[in-house]
Amino acid sequence: MHHYLFSLCLSVVARFCSCICIHDSVQRETTVVSPPASFHHVSRLHARDAPLVSRLPLRVTPWYLPGESALITPTQSRKLQAAMKEVTKIVSSILSVRRVGGPLLLNRDTERFCHSIWRNSTLPNYNKCGSLDKSYRGETCLDVTIPDSHLRGFEVWPELGQEPSHVTSDGEGVPDSDFLLYVRVAQTERCAAQTSVVAYASYCQLDHSGRPLAGVIVFCPEHLKEGEYQHSLVVQVSLHELLHALGFSRSLFAHWIDCSLYETGDTCSFRSRVANTDEYGHHRIYTPTVMQKMGEHLGAGPVGAPLENKDFPLSASSHWESRLLQGSILTASLSPPHLTHLDIITLAAFKDMGWYEVSTNTNDQLLWGKGAGLYFGLPSTCNDTSTGFFCTGSDIGCHHLHLDKGICSTDSFLDGCRIYKPLPSGGECWIKQENEEPGEIYGHQSRCFFSNLTKEVQLQTKVKGHCYLHRCLAPNSFQVKVQGSEWTDCPPGARIQVAGFEGLILCPSERLCMGFDHLTTSTVSSTPISTMVSKEGTIFPTEEGVAVRVQVTVGKGKQWSLDKTMILQEEVLGVIAQNAGMQR
Ligand SMILES: *[C@@H]1O[C@H](CO)[C@@H](O)[C@H](O)[C@H]1NC(C)=O
Ligand SMILES: *[C@@H]1O[C@H](CO)[C@@H](O)[C@H](O)[C@H]1NC(C)=O
Ligand SMILES: *[C@@H]1O[C@H](CO)[C@@H](O)[C@H](O)[C@H]1NC(C)=O
Repeated sequence: MHHYLFSLCLSVVARFCSCICIHDSVQRETTVVSPPASFHHVSRLHARDAPLVSRLPLRVTPWYLPGESALITPTQSRKLQAAMKEVTKIVSSILSVRRVGGPLLLNRDTERFCHSIWRNSTLPNYNKCGSLDKSYRGETCLDVTIPDSHLRGFEVWPELGQEPSHVTSDGEGVPDSDFLLYVRVAQTERCAAQTSVVAYASYCQLDHSGRPLAGVIVFCPEHLKEGEYQHSLVVQVSLHELLHALGFSRSLFAHWIDCSLYETGDTCSFRSRVANTDEYGHHRIYTPTVMQKMGEHLGAGPVGAPLENKDFPLSASSHWESRLLQGSILTASLSPPHLTHLDIITLAAFKDMGWYEVSTNTNDQLLWGKGAGLYFGLPSTCNDTSTGFFCTGSDIGCHHLHLDKGICSTDSFLDGCRIYKPLPSGGECWIKQENEEPGEIYGHQSRCFFSNLTKEVQLQTKVKGHCYLHRCLAPNSFQVKVQGSEWTDCPPGARIQVAGFEGLILCPSERLCMGFDHLTTSTVSSTPISTMVSKEGTIFPTEEGVAVRVQVTVGKGKQWSLDKTMILQEEVLGVIAQNAGMQR
């Protein structure tokens, strides 16, 4: 038994990335440039300065730095680009902005390029640059030098006179972009210092309303190497980091704006206090949509959504509190990709930033803590296991989404509370595998159930997590099938018996068949794809295992890019590997 547990611990390191996010420390070291002072000296933002334009999907343009790709092979580089494509697609499907006309141009930092500024308001050179700083070498975004072609020009004005004495004109800018993301692959000191860092990001430019316009994401090459690379993990981490750069960052809380009266002709104003402490001294976000959604989620009145307190005992952090938002894309410690989602509370925060219109869909649900009440998830209440979310001890049960078996355990973000964390290996009920216990069935439609089913007549067995087949009949209504049994109704909250077995199965309530499927990735394009498996698509054995060739045939006149093909191939291969229980 002890040996067993020991090997579990070892494989935690091997299988799951205990990915940490270093956004806050990176952001602290990033210089952020806003439009020249003349724009933002107003305390109230006159949104009406810009012509009223409707909001359109946010276009994030990844900009791959030439030369950096030498650190990874062309194949790995293509995979990274496919992952980024997927992430930008997810973001543009949820966020819309008032697009700026023309190509995106970034600002120069007046403080840096300009040595002196004319300050006589009666003269035409008022607030213009009077002399260049000799040491000015252009703009950077963290460690990336921004190409001149992405930057606005600048002028130098003489003391008297109606004309500038020097003009550097605007670069050509980046077309069709609302946010420019510089993508670097580099073995930086930060990568070396913490090997579990997959990527990190920060923003470096804001527009006149405070919305981030540009940022950088740095990938640590170790995690992109052949054999190491996990597509879904890279997508998950990139999305998490991009969401920081787009606004979910403690350093941007003071920039969030309230545009609720904008449509009625009023101006936008700064939100007075985005984050504040609650009665326990814990920092929460107290903006209207976040409070409303958090309240609805817990089944209580409006309440702030708590931020992670680890490492930030006295100030607000850039992550949600793990105890209350398990499974959210924006907690500091991420669950494996299939157990992590873009959730309603995160989307509510993006709405409250004021820069975005946010669209939601049914997959944005947060199951963790749903309906569990105002006092859910506090260190003082999490020993109460009656809500079915927290646990005590260290038994094997089910992760709360019931896709995986879980082991009751804790981590440094949980403040002593214990939850069922996915088993380090072999606990994915939805992946076909060999080590089935009697009665168990693993496979795509299998889920984790608490049960003590046994064939042994005399023996008392402990209730723990088991994998059985399930099928949905209606929302929150399903049947279960055990190896060698027929389909049996499993009313939510009930304990059922199965013919031929001693013991019971506990039927989870409000967890399964809730009208969305967490395994359906939102990753593939939403345009319908019809695929045809022909005899050309072949599966053949090789020395190391099995090789699968996927051939994509596109109908005449269909728009289809190489990236799309790569994403589709990744997806198809992923499903095949998953169903066959193979490592890729
Ligand atoms: C500003 O310029 C005007 C015109 O040259 C001059 O008369 C005035 O004294 C200047 N004001 C200051 C504060 O320097
Ligand atoms: C949980 O712990 C608190 C003290 O921290 C105690 O008062 C309470 O009775 C405990 N509840 C359960 C269900 O064990
Ligand atoms: C299964 O668990 C239930 C409830 O804990 C218990 O009453 C029953 O005796 C157990 N059955 C077996 C076979 O262990």
